[in-house]
Amino acid sequence: MNDIQYQFVKKILSSSSHSAKEVGRAFAPSNIALCKYWGKRDEVLNLPFNSSISISLGNKGSFTEIKRSNKDTFFLNDKIIDNETAFSCRLSKFLDLFRSHCRAPGFEIRTTNNIPTSAGLASSASGFAALVLALNDLTGWELSKKELSLLARLGSGSASRSIYNGFVIWNAGKNYDGLDSYSQLINVNWPEIRVGIIKIDESEKKISSREAMKRCVTTSKKYNSWPSIAEEHFRKIQNSIIDKDIDILGSTAEKNALKMHEVIRDTIPIIDFFTSETYECLKQIKRLRKNNVTVYATVDAGPNVKILFLENELKEICKEFKEIEIINPFGEANA
Ligand code: PMV
Repeated sequence: MNDIQYQFVKKILSSSSHSAKEVGRAFAPSNIALCKYWGKRDEVLNLPFNSSISISLGNKGSFTEIKRSNKDTFFLNDKIIDNETAFSCRLSKFLDLFRSHCRAPGFEIRTTNNIPTSAGLASSASGFAALVLALNDLTGWELSKKELSLLARLGSGSASRSIYNGFVIWNAGKNYDGLDSYSQLINVNWPEIRVGIIKIDESEKKISSREAMKRCVTTSKKYNSWPSIAEEHFRKIQNSIIDKDIDILGSTAEKNALKMHEVIRDTIPIIDFFTSETYECLKQIKRLRKNNVTVYATVDAGPNVKILFLENELKEICKEFKEIEIINPFGEANA
């Protein structure tokens, strides 16, 4: 077990209450970054070089159930996961941080994702956030959203944002102890906003975002410029959400994603998450804008494209993209 991480968890849990249940249950939404988190100033505590902003995907995400047990057993979408897989090892390592606090040598965990796993659709974000929320439910710790976000961050950086619905900022923070690096809600209700998911390839990606980030920070000559560019995008995106300005929000989010992928492509050996269909899809979105459809794109560490638009463009969008999945982040079911 990593002692730095364990001490971090201990600090957060030191004043928590306790009223244990048999089963802990929780849901956490997936999220799409509008200003991307890319690069860690601390690999152990998952501390980012730059602040990021996301929109949570309403009722698309992970449902998790957790029970105490003698050993770890994981089920993903009703299938048992072999203990030797990278997925199980990562989960068990994360759970090591909580075993003594939960008085349990192991856990039985059942997670159901209603988004594709590991296809750049941020299932690790909703997965770790749901796990921390389910642990909180199991143990009755009654942690604050800030504390939950700090804990989820240890599992996966972007999970710190999946503690909330709606628009979320993750402040990079400055401290070495990582206690100032957590997410907060932007208090804006924007019911007209829609996210569209254009699935290009749903298979497991060849390189994890964790691995790609590490290699990119150490070998991409373009990485040096990334944190300051991202901070500028961060401020612009935050203001555009408050002003509900879809053009500034969308155009800055698109620029931010394209910049991140440009920096990633400079990695040695090269990493390119885009496929020819991704490039085609981005061109198609540009063409739509030329025809006065207000729509913008973003792409995470995978080939799939997510688009941002307002409800009044829904008809045009569905006409253009036949297989698109439309998400209403502020829909009734997500209140
Ligand atoms: O949280 P991770 O380690 O899965 O990294 C997420 C990286 C991006 O999805 C590309 C960007 C982001 O901010 O979510």
